[in-house]
Amino acid sequence: MSAHAEQIPMTARASGPLRGVAEVPGDKSISHRALILGAMAVGTTRVTGLLEGQDVLDTAKAMRAFGATVTRTGPGEWSVQGVGVGGFSEPADVIDCGNSGTGVRLIMGAMATSPITATFTGDASLRKRPMGRVTVPLALFGTRAVGRAGGRLPMTIVGAADPVPVRYTVPVPSAQVKSAVLLAGLNAPGETVVIEREATRDHTERMLAGFGAQVRVEETPEGRVITLTGQPELRPQTVAVPRDPSSAAFPVCAALIVPGSDILVPGVSRNPTRDGLYVTLLEMGADITFENPREEGGEPVADLRVRYSAALKGVETPPHRAASMIDEFPVLSVVAACATGTTVMRGVKELRVKESDRIDAMARGLEACGVRIEEDEDTLIVHGMGPGNVPGGATCAVHLDHRIAMSFLVLGLAARAPVSVDDGAPIATSFPVFEPLMQALGAALERTSG
Ligand code: S3P
Repeated sequence: MSAHAEQIPMTARASGPLRGVAEVPGDKSISHRALILGAMAVGTTRVTGLLEGQDVLDTAKAMRAFGATVTRTGPGEWSVQGVGVGGFSEPADVIDCGNSGTGVRLIMGAMATSPITATFTGDASLRKRPMGRVTVPLALFGTRAVGRAGGRLPMTIVGAADPVPVRYTVPVPSAQVKSAVLLAGLNAPGETVVIEREATRDHTERMLAGFGAQVRVEETPEGRVITLTGQPELRPQTVAVPRDPSSAAFPVCAALIVPGSDILVPGVSRNPTRDGLYVTLLEMGADITFENPREEGGEPVADLRVRYSAALKGVETPPHRAASMIDEFPVLSVVAACATGTTVMRGVKELRVKESDRIDAMARGLEACGVRIEEDEDTLIVHGMGPGNVPGGATCAVHLDHRIAMSFLVLGLAARAPVSVDDGAPIATSFPVFEPLMQALGAALERTSG
């Protein structure tokens, strides 16, 4: 969907204790990759626990447009009949990736080394986001791209008919860029090498190995060096998608700031490249225990037991941790507002090019709720007010950003006066069951009429 048909204003108000089990949906990053790699394998890949959010549904639709057969066989259960590496056919129409930067950038990479042309677009948020970060490295393979000013969508990608392998150092910490280059490297002969100075989420490397590609990862003084041997035959897999730590963050943070709460969030991925929020919350004094640690679908997972934590204190998050919690800063800033002391988030400038400028969106909304904020290009500082002291009482602008919407609704559960968001519709991109799941825990959260 390229536009939300209608806005859904929502309000959250101070709630009694949150109690119960929060079964959050499947991991968004892994869900996109399962569909894309399934489409590039020879044979039928089966996926369980797929996130059925709009972002992932848009990727499923795109894979069909490139020739794969993608079928929903049950709740969260999907099968993908792949066309093989280099087997994509040319889509008959524009590919609409909706709100999803991950979807569009990974798919651009996956088709970039096939002799086909595809035009991509998305919603008003996605059409503002920079695509040059993927088209620059894709050009090294021989791919051409023509888009709007500033490398914005809509954009047409002309795949390289005769691709060459590349060696590329990713200039910004971005798993999407890394993944686009690796997926493009699949259909180039020889070895494609991607170097990242800071580790970002490693689901693509893990899953490529699972599908039978030769991938080597070395830690060197230059950074993480990932070497992929091109033109493998990918073998179809059964992918069990673990629950999304970025979605789990919302009930977890809500339980930490709503007095008396005690919840269990089972089966959450504890991949170290995604774990920064949980490291930070523990430093703040959060009462979280990681029970029953185990491996599921090639990822470490655990059941999270989370209890209200009255003594949360402000901390500083170092720049090197930013990539491992990049999607969690909005909700961390809400916890920081309810903590005692100042929280300083450093090295966060990538937040400015997400679904919205997340530094700006959180700063303006928190200020409207009575919280003192400082910011510069690369830093967000929240002056905590202590438990139960955030005034609230504002309507916050979401800017088509699901995580901004959920963060302010979490704040409303612990603020003195209700907190509203102008539009909760984008929540469906990543966490379609957010509203009933939070309500079942005891959250006073509702759609506001008018
Ligand atoms: C993602 C990478 C991150 C993250 C996004 C998902 C991925 O984006 O913010 O939600 O699945 O690769 P960047 O690569 O832009 O950091």
